[in-house]
Amino acid sequence: MIDRLETLEKEFMENIQKLKTEAELLNLKSEFLGKKGKVSQVLAGLRNASPEERKSIGPVANTLKDKIQATIGQRIQALEIDSINEKLAENKMDLSLTSDVLASTPHSGGLHPRTLIQREIEDVFLSMGFEVLDGPHIEDEFHNFEALNIPDTHPARDMQDTFWFHNPHDDSIKEKFLLRTHTSPIQVRGMLERTPPFRFIAPGSAFRCERTDASHEIVFNQLEGMMVGKNISVSNLIYFMKVLLKEIFKKEVEVRLRPGFFPFVEPGFELDINCLICSGKGCSVCKQTGWVELLPCGMIHPNVLKAGNIDPEEYNGFAFGLGLDRLVMMKYGIDDIRHLNSGDLRFNEQFKSY
Ligand code: PHE
Repeated sequence: MIDRLETLEKEFMENIQKLKTEAELLNLKSEFLGKKGKVSQVLAGLRNASPEERKSIGPVANTLKDKIQATIGQRIQALEIDSINEKLAENKMDLSLTSDVLASTPHSGGLHPRTLIQREIEDVFLSMGFEVLDGPHIEDEFHNFEALNIPDTHPARDMQDTFWFHNPHDDSIKEKFLLRTHTSPIQVRGMLERTPPFRFIAPGSAFRCERTDASHEIVFNQLEGMMVGKNISVSNLIYFMKVLLKEIFKKEVEVRLRPGFFPFVEPGFELDINCLICSGKGCSVCKQTGWVELLPCGMIHPNVLKAGNIDPEEYNGFAFGLGLDRLVMMKYGIDDIRHLNSGDLRFNEQFKSY
């Protein structure tokens, strides 16, 4: 019996060398250790053996059983390691990739800095009970000029270099359309659609036919604001503007109010902030003055309220027209407005936020 066990061991060791899969190994195991396996049969034969024989053969048979079990286990483990290594070799990662290689991989999207700030401002005003309105880019003379107290003959029309769809001097054309030169026509639309008291803001693009430079673009963005009610004063206006600037810049910003002329407000102001690009020293954005015109505003002119079907004897209010692009430039230290519409992904990517 001992001889039989030795041959079985040899046979097992020879066979196992040839096997390559886990299934083959498990088959071999049952061939030797299964119920009717070769080693099991030897052990079954022990039942008829003498006590002495059992004593000497038993341990040898058990040792062989353990050895077979352990060897099979080791081989299966080795096979698993081989297959993991194979997979790793297939999906090899090159950890030495340099940043210039990474830079040439596709860009992922991000929000434009103007969108980021616009959303921030909308949140501030929504929390103070304002609505957010929109209006058309193509406007008529009534909404863009007349209702805003800028009649045909008014010199203020010269301030607005307008893109017309029709010859503005051809009196035979009744309704002349244009690209809105400011977001103020939304004031008119907003008034006509509501009854006081109300308050709203209206962000959007505006268009002017002018020469571009570091602080002027043909297409630029404003954020209009209007509040109409009873007994509204300049201090209400100043309060809302201060809250706005504090939320945007996360710190107190130096401001100054100058008298400003706009036909649709009386009194009218220009709210300037200390240039944050050069800290007031003077640069191309602030035209070397140290101050940036950010927020024209004022108390709504009675004629404008009338055009909006509101009785100026009963109600009054304020309006402002924030220069959104300038604000973006101040907040992020951008020294040329033309970057904003450049569509250059390297520019946009710097402000990524999701
Ligand atoms: N619409 C004016 C402009 O574009 C700005 C403005 C809005 C001024 C509201 C006062 C009140 O220049």
